[in-house]
Amino acid sequence: MNANEIKALELSNKRSGVKVFVAGSYEALSKKAASIVAGAINNKPSFLLGLATGTSPIGLYEELANLNHEGRVDFSEVTTYNLDEYYPIDPANDQSYRYFMNKHLFNNINIDMNRTHVLFGQAPDWKVECAEYDKAIAEQGGIDLQVLGIGNNGHIGFNEPGRDFIWGTHRVELTESTIEANSRLFNSADEVPRAALSMGIGNIMCAKQVVLVANGPKKAQAIKDALEGEISPYCQASILQLHPNVTFIIDEEAASMLDAYKAL
Ligand code: GLP
Repeated sequence: MNANEIKALELSNKRSGVKVFVAGSYEALSKKAASIVAGAINNKPSFLLGLATGTSPIGLYEELANLNHEGRVDFSEVTTYNLDEYYPIDPANDQSYRYFMNKHLFNNINIDMNRTHVLFGQAPDWKVECAEYDKAIAEQGGIDLQVLGIGNNGHIGFNEPGRDFIWGTHRVELTESTIEANSRLFNSADEVPRAALSMGIGNIMCAKQVVLVANGPKKAQAIKDALEGEISPYCQASILQLHPNVTFIIDEEAASMLDAYKAL
């Protein structure tokens, strides 16, 4: 594929209505994702946008800022809710997801900071924090579009592999594999918080639209399991097969294990 190319994949999985696009480069992937997000906002300016952290959506956020500067999308009426936050963590800490969002998106677009919501990493009572987060989202009519990345182990938000899908926002004890994967952004694995607060699978499944971005070879197995595997809490992203409006936008490395990609 050339760098600017985007190809739609035909999944043979009859259960799944997920749309999948493979992009020839990270830039093409990010532009495609940004055009979907910006298009949805343009159709409904008072939009509830669900956001994700991680390195995968950084290009998408850069493209959204470019579109905003070019006057092609307006965030003045947009309200955002982020998926997750480490717990405990000071929001001013440069490893917090609040810091990440300010740096990679909120400081670069015309959004009202009062409309940006990230779970508070220093909440004295995490149960109250989680319940209020769910209530606020529900009272505003639910998330219009949720942006997702995916963990190497198939997690979405911080919904880790395990026996259950958990519905609402909750506290999570991070798995060793996630602590290890995320330690690349800290000085050492010892500094990675052991817990997080995360929206649940219900929050994500109730979003009217979902856009998932993934790139690189480390995501190939998770993408394979999510799209062509059984629906199982051991790959939390596999539940997205049941969502009526999901688009995966992935690069060739992340797509490399899919039967549908090999058949191209
Ligand atoms: C973190 C976040 C997830 C994110 C994942 C992948 O654990 N909680 O929301 O999708 O990392 O991160 P990256 O995009 O850096 O690979």
